[in-house]
Amino acid sequence: MQYATEENLTDLALKRWEGCHSPRLREIMQSLVKHLHEFVREVEPKENEWLMAVNWLEKTGQLSSEKRHEFILLSDVLGISMLVDGINHRFPTGATPSTVMGPFHIEGSPELPMGTDLAAGLAGTPCFVLGTVRDLNGRPIAGAKLDVWQADADGMYESQLGADEPLLRAIFRTGADGKYLIRTIAPPGYSIPMDGTVGDLMRATDISHFRPAHIHFYISAPGYQPLITHLFKKDARYIDSDVVFGVKEELIAEFKLQPGGKTPAGEDSSKPFYVVNYDFTLSK
Ligand code: BEZ
Ligand code: FE
Repeated sequence: MQYATEENLTDLALKRWEGCHSPRLREIMQSLVKHLHEFVREVEPKENEWLMAVNWLEKTGQLSSEKRHEFILLSDVLGISMLVDGINHRFPTGATPSTVMGPFHIEGSPELPMGTDLAAGLAGTPCFVLGTVRDLNGRPIAGAKLDVWQADADGMYESQLGADEPLLRAIFRTGADGKYLIRTIAPPGYSIPMDGTVGDLMRATDISHFRPAHIHFYISAPGYQPLITHLFKKDARYIDSDVVFGVKEELIAEFKLQPGGKTPAGEDSSKPFYVVNYDFTLSK
């Protein structure tokens, strides 16, 4: 029996995980142990610092629920979500890139007829987002499902507002021509939630805690790779400093402000509205 010393502890802990039944879990846990031990050896935490970190993690877990995903938020601000996303979605050239899902997607949005106003009765500048869902050969994809969600004009999502009814989220399906039309309000840039443990951490830094204006899309179609992505508003504030590293050049779209007139939904508007033209390309 080899008893533990500061020097041999990493080897002992690694060896212990040899007993893991799943080869993949063994690989993951041994790598985790190796990197965590390296981290501890490098920073040599004081005991009060270690306890502070454990308490912080405990509080992060207590804050987390079906409606609030503080650990996802932590992964987002550390750039880990985007790294996992990049590793898992190496789409071919020409395909629309993916970006971070974020903590505000809600499963089971209502499926609405294309063109239904997502923002009926809500404050904000009307915004029409339209285009075609295509394959890599430019052919329209019929029956593509677009799960869309966004923040309200104050930068708040449904789960933050505790709304009883679905708010600014819906599912639409393309017809034979692959076309879509989303009718909504222009999204604002917003702060990530700062009232939790991630906010506490951010306040200890000069890091911007804002995201640039965007709309979320989760697009899927039989036979194609699902695409989780955003459309970002060109020239939006924070476009170069997104706190979660989510911006990709291909996802920046022009939000053209029209003074009024005929909308893409075919109605006359006396008020200004935005029009965004964007085609999504899915890969197999
Ligand atoms: C979002 O875009 O909804 C989001 C993504 C990551 C962190 C916080 C919010
Ligand atoms: Fe968002």
